[in-house]
Amino acid sequence: MKGLHIQGLSHSYGDNKVLDNAGLIVPAGELVCMLGPSGCGKSTLLRLAAGLEKVQHGKIIIDDVTVGSADVHLPPEKRHIGLMFQDYALFPHLNVIDNVTFGLLDMAPDKARLLAMDMLTQVGMAAQSDKFPHMLSGGQQQRVALARALAPEPKLLLLDEPFSGLDTNLRETIREETLSVLKNSGVATLMVTHDPEEAMFMADRIKIIGANGHILQAGRPHEIYYHPTHEFVARLFGMMNRFEGVAADGQVETPLGAVATDLADGTPAEVLIRPEGVILGTSDNNQGTTVEVTSSHLMGHDNIVRVRLGNGEGEDLHVRVHHTFEAELKESFSCRLDHEYAFVFPLDAESEYTNTELMDAPTSEEISAAGE
Ligand SMILES: Nc1ncnc2c1ncn2[C@@H]1O[C@H](COP(=O)(O)OP(=O)(O)O)[C@@H](O)[C@H]1O
Ligand SMILES: [Mg+2]
Repeated sequence: MKGLHIQGLSHSYGDNKVLDNAGLIVPAGELVCMLGPSGCGKSTLLRLAAGLEKVQHGKIIIDDVTVGSADVHLPPEKRHIGLMFQDYALFPHLNVIDNVTFGLLDMAPDKARLLAMDMLTQVGMAAQSDKFPHMLSGGQQQRVALARALAPEPKLLLLDEPFSGLDTNLRETIREETLSVLKNSGVATLMVTHDPEEAMFMADRIKIIGANGHILQAGRPHEIYYHPTHEFVARLFGMMNRFEGVAADGQVETPLGAVATDLADGTPAEVLIRPEGVILGTSDNNQGTTVEVTSSHLMGHDNIVRVRLGNGEGEDLHVRVHHTFEAELKESFSCRLDHEYAFVFPLDAESEYTNTELMDAPTSEEISAAGE
């Protein structure tokens, strides 16, 4: 298959077992994000794929060639990979163009220069080709780093939190540009991030690694957002409204109505509802539960309105509404659920978590996308 295939990778630093039987596929042309808290082994996996660390157990295969295993260790420069790490800075003593041609030493110098200029044009840095890194902003340096990583036409690009050093506005611009350059190049990309929005924005597929280092869910961004299989995953994307209840007849009751579940009758459960899953309407049509506005916060495109249930019970609900929606303090609304944004999880989920693999095995969809 084209792309990256990691099989049964285990890795320890002394007694600290960081990866345990990790498996992962990144098909050519796809961008896969590993999303997880710090310390869960993301960088270790990337360094192993890059060849910066030797494989103890398992296999790393790039475009059908085993580049790392207990017996094989191809050095990074022989793996046809591009690297962009948070701390993988440009060479300070080389100007922009020389930074980009650095990985093209096998090529005739004038051809390398042409190719490097082409890459710099793609990332919008051609005009700065003779500047030195210290003369560039963080965003410009990052663009050059991307050009340098892609110039040798790698089979695989490995990105470790590449945008975390940039401030918010710049980060959004750069990641959008990066994504379009990557999609043009068709390279297989494995990116690590701890920013859920970044993963949603960039990824074809997301692998979510939980606090305990185990993969909790893998899927396309849409699946992760609309069908979270764990509470941890549901909560990644901001505040949630929460009710407790007990499963009965395939549903759990909440003050906003019943939510379907396949939990067994009698299972204590929690219902999590995204702020956009609470729908406010005029209270005179008398559908749904009555709520009263306790505050309203303009967030830009959306407002977050806090409302209290009519009977005064429980915590205020967070409701996401369009910024043109006017909600006065103490105003009453009827309130109902959009079931697409309501999720039920067992209250005692311990047993569920302990059975997960550290990293998941590739799905059949991924394997077929990889053309295996
Ligand atoms: N070179 C190293 N030597 C010893 N321990 C390490 C080394 N690199 C990482 N670790 C440990 O391995 C664990 C995973 O680290 P890392 O892969 O960097 O996680 P992440 O990138 O997800 O934050 C951490 O507990 C970290 O302290
Ligand atoms: Mg890391």
